[in-house]
Amino acid sequence: MGALLSIRDLRAGYGKLEILHGVSFTVEEGSITVLLGANGAGKTTLMRAIAGLIPVRDGVLSYCGEDLAPMPAHERVERGVTLSPEGRMVFASLTVLQNLRLGAISKRARAGAESRLASVLRRFPRLAERRRQSAGSLSGGEQQMLALGRALMAAPRLLLLDEPSLGLAPIMVKQIFAAIRELRSEGYSVLLAEQNAQLALEFADQGCVIENGALRLSGRGADLAASDELRKSYIGI
Ligand SMILES: Nc1ncnc2c1ncn2[C@@H]1O[C@H](COP(=O)(O)OP(=O)(O)OP(=O)(O)O)[C@@H](O)[C@H]1O
Ligand SMILES: [Mg+2]
Repeated sequence: MGALLSIRDLRAGYGKLEILHGVSFTVEEGSITVLLGANGAGKTTLMRAIAGLIPVRDGVLSYCGEDLAPMPAHERVERGVTLSPEGRMVFASLTVLQNLRLGAISKRARAGAESRLASVLRRFPRLAERRRQSAGSLSGGEQQMLALGRALMAAPRLLLLDEPSLGLAPIMVKQIFAAIRELRSEGYSVLLAEQNAQLALEFADQGCVIENGALRLSGRGADLAASDELRKSYIGI
């Protein structure tokens, strides 16, 4: 395994406000990296900077040997960088199928979209059953599956999943995490923002803790889960 994404001294923010003050870490190919941090730590900001939704002010975002930083968001999508945003953001009035097809509008994703659609519907039978239903009528957990399915429709190589378990009942959280684990076994690389440190570190290969826009801790998932420092941090496990 080598580094798929290598972030060095990344600075980003909104307007005059700098939120990320020089963050550095790597995401290995075919692995799950979990990004931990309290509310407001900067997890979503980091995801947005990687996806190209906000500019990188300084630092390097090296992906497959290319610097993403100067690239607009759509070019990153063409390279397989796909964000599943916080809060799911499905189109409530469109059907499940329409939402999924919208995930495949990039040039990269158009080829093979129908077979990818079939595989998403096999992966999430609940979505298949409800494929003609409006996304707004799905339960929270089903909407999260839809958001994940839509991200898969983009033919990703690096999946950026921003708190996919937020607000879900424990049984749904387990299903979502099982799906993410399965994705890793199929070779996808995942960067997962999550607040539930214990749960996430159980299956993450690597973990990073962000605090006030800076990296506070990082290491192998299992080591981090056992570390006193993480225990002592406000995240607590
Ligand atoms: N559009 C924006 N304009 C200005 N400030 C913002 C904007 N979005 C986020 N922020 C600020 O950036 C900081 C980091 O927010 P961010 O959403 O990245 O945190 P987070 O770690 O994802 O938190 P959460 O776990 O609650 O999702 C916060 O102080 C937030 O108020
Ligand atoms: Mg967030």
